[in-house]
Amino acid sequence: MPKATIRDVDLKEKRCFCRVDYNVPMKGTEIADDTRIRASLPTVRYLMDKNAKIVLAAHFGRPKGKVVDSLRLDPIAKRLSELIGVEVKKLDDCIGEEVEQEVAAMKPGQVVLLENVRFHPEEEKNEKQFAAKLASLGDIFVNDAFGTAHRAHASTAGVAEFIPAYAGFLMEKEIHALGKLLSAPERPFAAVIGGAKVSDKLGVLESLLDRVDSLLIGGGMANTFLLAQGYSMGKSLIEPDKVDAALGIIKKAKDLGKKLMLPVDLAVAEKPEAGVSVKVVQPGDVPEGMMALDIGPESRKLFSEEISNAKTVFWNGPMGVFEVEAFRGGTLEVAAAIAHIDGFTVVGGGDSLAAVELSGYAGKIKHLSTGGGASLEFLEGKQLPGVKCLVEL
Ligand code: 3PG
Repeated sequence: MPKATIRDVDLKEKRCFCRVDYNVPMKGTEIADDTRIRASLPTVRYLMDKNAKIVLAAHFGRPKGKVVDSLRLDPIAKRLSELIGVEVKKLDDCIGEEVEQEVAAMKPGQVVLLENVRFHPEEEKNEKQFAAKLASLGDIFVNDAFGTAHRAHASTAGVAEFIPAYAGFLMEKEIHALGKLLSAPERPFAAVIGGAKVSDKLGVLESLLDRVDSLLIGGGMANTFLLAQGYSMGKSLIEPDKVDAALGIIKKAKDLGKKLMLPVDLAVAEKPEAGVSVKVVQPGDVPEGMMALDIGPESRKLFSEEISNAKTVFWNGPMGVFEVEAFRGGTLEVAAAIAHIDGFTVVGGGDSLAAVELSGYAGKIKHLSTGGGASLEFLEGKQLPGVKCLVEL
């Protein structure tokens, strides 16, 4: 069922409790990447143009229900003010009398940002009374926080029990783009999955096999698959308790007649640090004291060829320790291959987005998803609480 958006409701002078995902990476006290803030601007600007009163709610980090000064939203309010060109007032809390008074005094078109909702333990518990207090700050709920839509929290889903919920434009765009991967992907459809651990992505690997034509596995998680195939992996990051799961995925691919590609060579070194000496070896030849830290040149070539034959590609997770220049080659080549295909391409997850930015190809990817965990759960076919609660058309 299609979901209602802010286009479907009269917004004039309405108080909009608007959940956004401003969980941005920081470098010290500076915002390292403001992509998520910029991604919310079409919604914020539209609400301003329609003379709504915009009460923004967001989380930042994992303060575990306590006030943590370094996780206050002041730097975010400052950046948002710069981006929209008007002052965004940051309030000192997200509930309480003072907040209620500030919201009651708001003028149409004004924007305020509540303090980090995760300073209250009730947020992550999706506690009803807390959700009701948040909901009392709005006439409607606008959910634009796709990156947090997989969490059933008070500000992402609970408030929808009290006020009607509409998708913001980022939420709409994400559902549309990722929905295309689920419903009618043009074939061949290749998924490239990397990152450190198999355990983080078991569910998505399983369900992707039902949808894709080929599944390319790189990064740290490939080590456990190679171990499962009987290769010794030296000091590489492995998850011995996931060997059976890896074998299950290999078997499922075979049973379904899907192509499952693993690295055929690896860049190895003693540690993931700049300046170390790097060797390229085949799986099984990883020396005792060394670890796999990137896919090797032959694997990059094979992965790139497979990607270039695809009409739809989804990518999540780097192919190696791309933060260290010596181990970023595989990730950059995958980014380049995806950027060059004439088809529908989606990249999701913080590390992969950082990698495409670094590769200079970000502008050539059809959809850059602001959701990491959220995009994976969406592709698993799960109903995300922050999407489920939206009004249906
Ligand atoms: C994210 O960064 O993936 C989202 O903002 C969700 O954050 P969380 O994993 O702390 O819930």
